[in-house]
Amino acid sequence: KSYVILSGLGGFGVELADWLIPRGARNLLLISRTGIRNGYQRSRVELWKSYGVNIQITACADVSDPKDCAVILKSAAGLGPVDAIFNLAVVLRDSIYKNQTAETFEESFKPKARATKMLDELSRKICPDFRHFVVFLSVSCGRGNAGQTN
Ligand SMILES: NC(=O)c1ccc[n+]([C@@H]2O[C@H](COP(=O)([O-])OP(=O)(O)OC[C@H]3O[C@@H](n4cnc5c(N)ncnc54)[C@H](OP(=O)(O)O)[C@@H]3O)[C@@H](O)[C@H]2O)c1
Repeated sequence: KSYVILSGLGGFGVELADWLIPRGARNLLLISRTGIRNGYQRSRVELWKSYGVNIQITACADVSDPKDCAVILKSAAGLGPVDAIFNLAVVLRDSIYKNQTAETFEESFKPKARATKMLDELSRKICPDFRHFVVFLSVSCGRGNAGQTN
């Protein structure tokens, strides 16, 4: 089975892959716009591969772009039946409310709200049999966090 982790090389993305692999994940598609950027990410990927896990890293993929989302899901389906999709992408544009603009809302919304809506729509067509659709957020969005209205 395949697992798609959007923002799979971010801080939590690496830890999520580390958690999934000992629990049986054997095909992982990790999405990021920039790819591997540091030694920690490289060392984890090398370790996972040494366990025999099939790790595919798709760099230059933007989860807020509908074409990229479709390519991501089709690539995952090509690895095997997709069992889970995790969206961990985040862009923070914090500032007090009077300094927020339409652009700072848009930048924060794109990888979370827009990408999640697109993934929901596209996954129903491309890989409808998956079991888990998980969207990471913060408890602070329900309880309030200074500067994070967007
Ligand atoms: N860290 C915390 O303390 C914390 C607390 C509560 C909740 N969370 C939530 O947990 C999730 C993961 O957080 P994190 O700490 O792992 O964040 P992170 O280390 O900042 O990683 C987020 C990644 O999102 C990727 N990204 C942003 N826009 C993208 C796009 N359009 N397409 C593809 N990738 C995109 C970026 O990777 P590229 O630049 O390579 O694309 C970035 O590395 C987020 O939803 C966050 O809100 C985090």
